[in-house]
Amino acid sequence: MADKKARLTVDGLDEVIELPVYSGTEGPDVIDVRPLTGKGLFTYDPGFVSTAACESQITYIDGDKGILLHRGYPIDQLAEQSDYLEVCYLLLNGELPNAEEKKRFVNTISNHTMVHEQLISFYKGFRRDAHPMAIMCGVVGALSAFYHDSLDINNANHREVCAYRLIAKMPTLAAMCYKYSIGQPFMFPRNDKGYAENFLRMMFSTPCAEYEVSPVLVRAMDRIFTLHADHEQNASTSTVRLAGSSGANPFACIAAGIAALWGPAHGGANEAVLTMLNEIGDEANIPEFIKRAKDPEDPFRLMGFGHRVYRNFDPRSRVMKKTCDEVLAELNIDDPLLRIATRLEEIALEDPYFVERKLYPNVDFYSGIILKAMGIPTSMFTVIFAMSRTIGWISHWNEFHSSPNRIGRPRQLYTGAKKRDYPG
Ligand code: CMC
Repeated sequence: MADKKARLTVDGLDEVIELPVYSGTEGPDVIDVRPLTGKGLFTYDPGFVSTAACESQITYIDGDKGILLHRGYPIDQLAEQSDYLEVCYLLLNGELPNAEEKKRFVNTISNHTMVHEQLISFYKGFRRDAHPMAIMCGVVGALSAFYHDSLDINNANHREVCAYRLIAKMPTLAAMCYKYSIGQPFMFPRNDKGYAENFLRMMFSTPCAEYEVSPVLVRAMDRIFTLHADHEQNASTSTVRLAGSSGANPFACIAAGIAALWGPAHGGANEAVLTMLNEIGDEANIPEFIKRAKDPEDPFRLMGFGHRVYRNFDPRSRVMKKTCDEVLAELNIDDPLLRIATRLEEIALEDPYFVERKLYPNVDFYSGIILKAMGIPTSMFTVIFAMSRTIGWISHWNEFHSSPNRIGRPRQLYTGAKKRDYPG
């Protein structure tokens, strides 16, 4: 695999260390630094900015060009021409399904949507005003206690069944969070409905009134799921892989991913964008917030802007903006927050601070406005991200366990106290 070599000299070492260099199918070459450990050296890379933590065949991002590929297919083509469950199949299996495979997959997912009745008791233990992400961390981890028949991580069939269960049950669990928070009865999933439609139904129907869901909103919801399905080795996916490397069961690993996603620098950003737009309140206040975002002394950042990998437009944000326009037109909504968002984007994209740092709108910039227009409360935004990303997490977890692996164990540059004796 290594057709090139890097050579490293280190002061104090009288040899040249040769390191293999690997080329992937896309992207930069990667230097294999493992031989360094044998020489008493580690690499130092806080935030893993320059570290490839694994080999993967699932998703590729070219941050400079603004390209995102799942199993080779561009995200904009998938968002326009495919649907979420097909993308789930693709991420999990590596290829698009044929018509028969798709039918079987959709049918399997539809038949795993119900959750164990006992799980309902877990919800009742939470305060009604609990953040739904807190509930999701708890109930998804708790699935480990219910599905003992599929917990052998070395068995490919067990891993597959776990993936099906997670994809199928996440919308049910997520909608239950919302229903619990507003004191309405939980709605059971309906297996004759599509994935996105079922979720919207479980959110907004009641036993007294069926929610009539518009096809435009169903399509928009499905697109939001698709656009969030996977994103390579981000913080939550790396968390899932690391948790999985210890041999922990998949439900526990996905709960770890949900926890990592929650923060405002990651999945919590869609909620933070809306909070920020509300705080701005009026187009006239935008310059003041731009000024704050640029001030190194002020911790405020423009939410929904910037990305660790993209130094160009996030390809997902373009589809999201188009979907946003479609949804607002369908619902006949003239949202002042959208006007603020559009103006903010225009101003930021012309400001040298953002231009020089290559800070562009990311996927979260418009998703919040769409979700708000659909009547989904802000606190559910990150839950919807978690639901959508579950397929990415479980695909990476499955990939990790499908080939030889070892526990993840980063090292450190220790700068603490030297060995000293306890005062006698
Ligand atoms: N507003 C103002 N300045 C920013 C922003 C922002 N949103 N993002 C980055 N910068 C500045 C940062 O201060 C730094 O400036 P300087 O070089 O003068 O110190 C420079 O740009 C580079 O930023 P960084 O912090 O080194 O970038 P990072 O790769 O560590 O952080 C990020 C990436 C996404 C955490 C960050 O851009 C951010 O906090 N954005 C806002 C939160 C957000 O929208 N997150 C969602 C990401 S997309 C969804 C997902 O994948 O989870």
